[in-house]
This record gives sequence, structure tokens and C-alpha cells, in this order.
Amino acid sequence: MLKFASPHVDQDTIAGVAEVLRSGHITSGPWVERFEAALSTFCAGRPVRVVTSATAAIEIALRLAGIGPGDEVITCAQSFFTVLNMIVKVGATPVFVDCEPVTRNLDLAEVEARIGPRTRAIMPTHWPGSMMDLDRLYAIAKARGLRVIEDAALVIGSQWKGRNIGALGDLVSFSFHPNKNMTSIEGGALVVNDATEAHRVETLRFHGIERLPDGTRDVAIASGKFNLPDVNARVGFDQLVRLPQFLATRRALVERYFARWSTDPPCELPPMPRAGDGQSWNMFCVLLPLDALARSRQQVREALAARGIATGISYEALHLCTLGKQYGYRHGDLPVAERIAAATLTLPLHVDMTADDVDRVCAACTQVLAEAQIR
Ligand SMILES: Cc1ncc(COP(=O)(O)O)c(C=O)c1O
Repeated sequence: MLKFASPHVDQDTIAGVAEVLRSGHITSGPWVERFEAALSTFCAGRPVRVVTSATAAIEIALRLAGIGPGDEVITCAQSFFTVLNMIVKVGATPVFVDCEPVTRNLDLAEVEARIGPRTRAIMPTHWPGSMMDLDRLYAIAKARGLRVIEDAALVIGSQWKGRNIGALGDLVSFSFHPNKNMTSIEGGALVVNDATEAHRVETLRFHGIERLPDGTRDVAIASGKFNLPDVNARVGFDQLVRLPQFLATRRALVERYFARWSTDPPCELPPMPRAGDGQSWNMFCVLLPLDALARSRQQVREALAARGIATGISYEALHLCTLGKQYGYRHGDLPVAERIAAATLTLPLHVDMTADDVDRVCAACTQVLAEAQIR
């Protein structure tokens, strides 16, 4: 079975992890500091703190921004459940807006239209292949006095006008889940603005504990435990070194998909890569022509699985999940996000794939979709 996502961990990293395990210091320690320093360099010197997941990073970002009950956060319906869950978890209200049809990024005109007196932050999820207009996003946020929490889980290595995502902006979170561009097994990071915010992240990621001058500890704000162990940091450190190589391989595979489907693609393709566009490719998500098919998406997935090809769904429409509906959303409210949610299919893309694997996926998709056509 060809997986749709898979991490690549090499022997040097495995040996490095064994060293950490033998060192006796296996939870957060020197490798966390090294990993954070390397991530900070990657983000043009901005402070970065690592945590156990991007979900934790987003929760901490919301709390850092002082967002809680009575506040609204504008976010996208085409994203992972994390964004909804964490807004709700801190007691705020999610305000979903629609996305752009091809790039799947937040529709900034809609964002502007939904800003109200209770809005405190904008939380976009960046999509692989095409960065949203960050100049415009930050101009809107600045004009309305809003915080921005960028969910950059899918795009470490993407650039905006030649600068790495995370090197500019407000609060930026990354995921190092095994399906992402680089991994720390599980893990995430939050890029912040200054040393004061970095210190608050350190407090919030470890029970809310502050160390007092007399050697005792205090907790003023209740928090959870989100510190990343050194074992994970060791993996993440190595993966960051290899990130350019991983991104180049992913991009070559995406270009192969486009080359194979340069004419008559059997499905809608994501934005075409352009030379020097600075975009990374964590996923290759297509849209199935469901209106022309006599089979459901699930049947198409099963037919592909029968040919040894695994697929994913990224993502369901957040405003229509049971929790999202509790905020008053109904079918038809966000038509673009809903259309994408109904028809999207994530095809295999990871660094251990070959060009032949892409050819096999394309041939299988073309065949399965041709067989499924309404005649
Ligand atoms: C867009 C997006 N944001 C956030 C997350 C959460 O990442 P993590 O698993 O590191 O918490 C994911 C995970 O898949 C994601 O896809």
C-alpha cells in the first residue's frame, strides 16, 4: 500500500536518539534549546519555543493573546479540527469565513466583512502551494487592532516575498506531526514577538509555574503540560537540517503530478507550481468531479485502496461538524469550503516516493475515475 503521507527518519537520527536515551536526560533539556535556537535562526532570529504539538502551540498562542470568553476569533472552515477546538477550549467563539476556491486560503474580503466589536484575532491556516497575501492580512489586522495567529502547520519552508513563514508577522505555529514537512514524532512550535512573550510560553507550556527568587515556585494562571522531550527535539533538530532536501523532493513529486496531468486531468488540481514561487508542498489535494461520477468519494477511495493507493481527506468543513453547528452554522453558509470538503481527496505525497509512484497514482486515478463516470 502506498501511504498518502509518511515521515522519513534516517539512521543518523535514530543513532542520535539512542544517544539522547543513553544520556540520562530524556525529557526537555539541551536538545530543546538547540532545536529552538535552530528554529529561531530559520525564522530570522525571532524567538521560537517548542511544545508537544501545533494544537498546544495554538492553545498557548490564544492564551498569550489574552483571548477568552466573550471574544471572537475569525478563522477558516477549511482546516483541521484543532483551530475550532482550541478557540472553543479557551472559551472564545469561532467565526468561520469562507476560503478561496483554488488556493483554499482564507478569503480576506470576507474576513474584513466579519470583523465586529468582539473580534480579537484572525487565525488563518496556510495551505501548501500558494501563500495567502500576508501584506494584506497584516494591514487588516493592524488597522483593526487585531492579533494574528498563523496556523502554519502545513507550510514550514514556504516563503512570502523571499522570507520564511515565521520570519515575519505576529504569532506563528508549526506542526511536527509525522505527516508534516518535517517531524519531531509529535511536536510543534510557536514563533513569538519578544522575550516577554517567549517567557510566557515557557510558563504556559509547563503548568503555569513561575520560579521565585527564594527558590520556591508559584502558579498564578492554571495551565497544562506541553513541554517537548529531548528525544523529540533531537529528531526535530535533524529534520530541520534536512528540510531543504525534503522540500525539493516533495516539489519534484508535485511537478511530476502536474506533468502527468498536463492535459485532461481527471480531477481539479491544486495551484500549479511556478519557478521561484517559494512554496512548499505538504499535501497534494485534488477535487473529484463528483457531479460527473456514479460513485461516491468513499467508493473512489476504496477502488484506489484496492489498487494499493491510500488517500486522505483534508479537510471536513469545520463549521458543519457537530461542534461547529453549535455556533449556528448550517449547510450553504460557506459554499466554497463545503464544496471542497465534499470533493477533496489527498493523494500520496512524501519523500520516500518515486516518480514511478506518482505515475502509478495518476494512472490508477485516471482509470478509477473513468470507470466511475456517468455514461
Ligand atoms: C492545518 C493543521 N493545523 C493544525 C494541526 C495540528 O497539528 P498537531 O497534530 O501538531 O497538533 C494540523 C494537524 O494535522 C493541521 O493539519
